[in-house]
Amino acid sequence: MAGEHGGPGAPPAGAEEATVPWRALLAEAVATLADGGVEGAEVEARRIVEEATGRDGADLLVHLDEPATVNGVAALDAMVARRLAGEPLQYVLGRWGFRTLDLMVDRRVLIPRPETEGVVDHVLAELARRRDEMAASGRAAPPVVVDLGCGSGAIGLAVAAEWRGAEVHLVDLSADAVAVARANLAGLGMAGSTVAVHHGSWFDPLPPDRAGRVDVVVSNPPYVAADETLPPVVADWEPADALVSGPTGLEAVERILTDAVSWLAPSGLVVMEIGATQAEAARAAAEAAGLVEVDVRPDLSGRDRALVARAAR
Ligand SMILES: C[S@@+](CC[C@H](N)C(=O)[O-])C[C@H]1O[C@@H](n2cnc3c(N)ncnc32)[C@H](O)[C@@H]1O
Repeated sequence: MAGEHGGPGAPPAGAEEATVPWRALLAEAVATLADGGVEGAEVEARRIVEEATGRDGADLLVHLDEPATVNGVAALDAMVARRLAGEPLQYVLGRWGFRTLDLMVDRRVLIPRPETEGVVDHVLAELARRRDEMAASGRAAPPVVVDLGCGSGAIGLAVAAEWRGAEVHLVDLSADAVAVARANLAGLGMAGSTVAVHHGSWFDPLPPDRAGRVDVVVSNPPYVAADETLPPVVADWEPADALVSGPTGLEAVERILTDAVSWLAPSGLVVMEIGATQAEAARAAAEAAGLVEVDVRPDLSGRDRALVARAAR
């Protein structure tokens, strides 16, 4: 691996500069990952070298012929070894982009997915609609948004970052996820009274006085059935409680839709990510809960992945 370039007489980590340029180490990392069966080895190796150097994109290109530091080589080697062992790139890097955010992620939380970025679009569109409606009637108040099963905080923190002033509550049953979401909140410099991370089950830990006042309930809940087979890169590395809901896969979806009715403001919206085969069952659950204007929206690849449903006026 790359660190072997230091040779037997190499100085201890961090002691002094190594002489191998990053360009050679990048080429070696590409070859090592490709030999190890990693698809997209070139892109992944580049991301790993970016992380090891602390330089992104064009900045890395400019500095590729500089000699690597010993610490940098050690970091590169460790990341390549973890990736070769099958660990997802996102956990290896320890961070991942979600919309405008650079989120800390590790094995305590689900890796934020690109399709979930579209869920945030539905929330922002609804906040704009409600703002315009209120303005037309001469009213103004910060919207209240609740992200149930927040994991890393991806959805709720993206809403908070893109709709400044929104009162956003993030909730997760996993103490680990709550810790990661709180760290991400702190890292984004948005800590304060308008964004809060709560530990508990679904609506339970929310301030009781928000009942009937929530403008948008958004969730990407666990929606995998217990007997469903997941790809090893998911099943072996991501937290099972973030993925599996119960025997049918619809348990969390149904529970959130049922309980949302008493938390939503009049005509408030639920936006929920669902599995690609769950559209009809989720639609039926929303209607059974008494929600109206129930609709299923496609993701960027045309699959039915987001349920939206409204509380009565
Ligand atoms: C599919 S992950 C979504 C994580 C994050 N929102 C995202 O989109 O990347 C589902 C999350 O729901 C949480 N969860 C599972 N059961 C829960 C419950 N009863 N109450 C609150 N959160 C729960 C899991 O811990 C996990 O973080």
